[in-house]
Amino acid sequence: MRIFLILLWLIPISAGAQDNSIRLAIPDPLLETGFMDYLLPRFSLKSAIRVDRVPVGAPADLVLTREPAGQVVFIGADAQWYLDTQIDSPTAMRFADWLTSDAGGRAITGFQPQGDTIFLLPQPDAPVVVRVPINPALAAKGGDLSLDHCGRCHVVSDANRMKGIGSTPSFALIRTFSDWDTRFQTFYVLKPHPAFTQITDVTDPFDPARPSPIVPLHITAEDLDAIIAFVATIAPADLGAPMQSQ
Ligand code: HEC
Repeated sequence: MRIFLILLWLIPISAGAQDNSIRLAIPDPLLETGFMDYLLPRFSLKSAIRVDRVPVGAPADLVLTREPAGQVVFIGADAQWYLDTQIDSPTAMRFADWLTSDAGGRAITGFQPQGDTIFLLPQPDAPVVVRVPINPALAAKGGDLSLDHCGRCHVVSDANRMKGIGSTPSFALIRTFSDWDTRFQTFYVLKPHPAFTQITDVTDPFDPARPSPIVPLHITAEDLDAIIAFVATIAPADLGAPMQSQ
């Protein structure tokens, strides 16, 4: 009986200790503004979640960074600041949700050490940046594969600028879509590709009654990963205005 009582006390305490803090990596220039001393206690007060500040590079649940990753959360001190979630825990999500809520917005613009607002809110639909880690060797291989397999129709880079088919969108153009990576991951089911494309172990063989009308395109899933790594390095075409999705 006594043991049972002790366990009852221990379990909620240890679970609570883990659930009620997050590690937030904060770059020095942001710490120096004093903004975090103003902002973080306001979140902790509302949520009862403690925020442990850790240096950039240390293990963290969330990172405030100038590098485009995640979501722009505020603008000021000569930068756009992104909140990049490293660990999808409920407490990390709470912080992200709070920071982008009306209450979080009021806390951000309420920081006025000398009577002036220092940090502004991003525009309402600032884009969420898809972070694709760039692996230079893979991207270089993907560049060659793109020229070999896609370059007869698509302009993939300057290397085949004059060789693509004019009516076929260039890779730089497709790169302007916010969901460009989904389009590349699924290109083999998007028209016109299914009629002539085979991905090893992924697509079914061509129907013998409807063979490929042109020289077939045959790559592996690894080849496609390399192509996507290459496309991630392409600067989106500058269209002057954002592309409308079809
Ligand atoms: C035989 C010509 C041809 C080849 C080869 C080809 N494509 Fe395409 N691709 C097209 C055409 C045409 C379109 C435009 C389709 C449209 O606008 O409906 C297109 C569109 C796309 C799109 C955009 C799809 C969408 O719906 O947004 C992606 C992504 C794409 N191609 C990837 C590739 C990749 C990757 C390769 C090489 C592995 C490749 N394509 C090879 C002709 C080709």
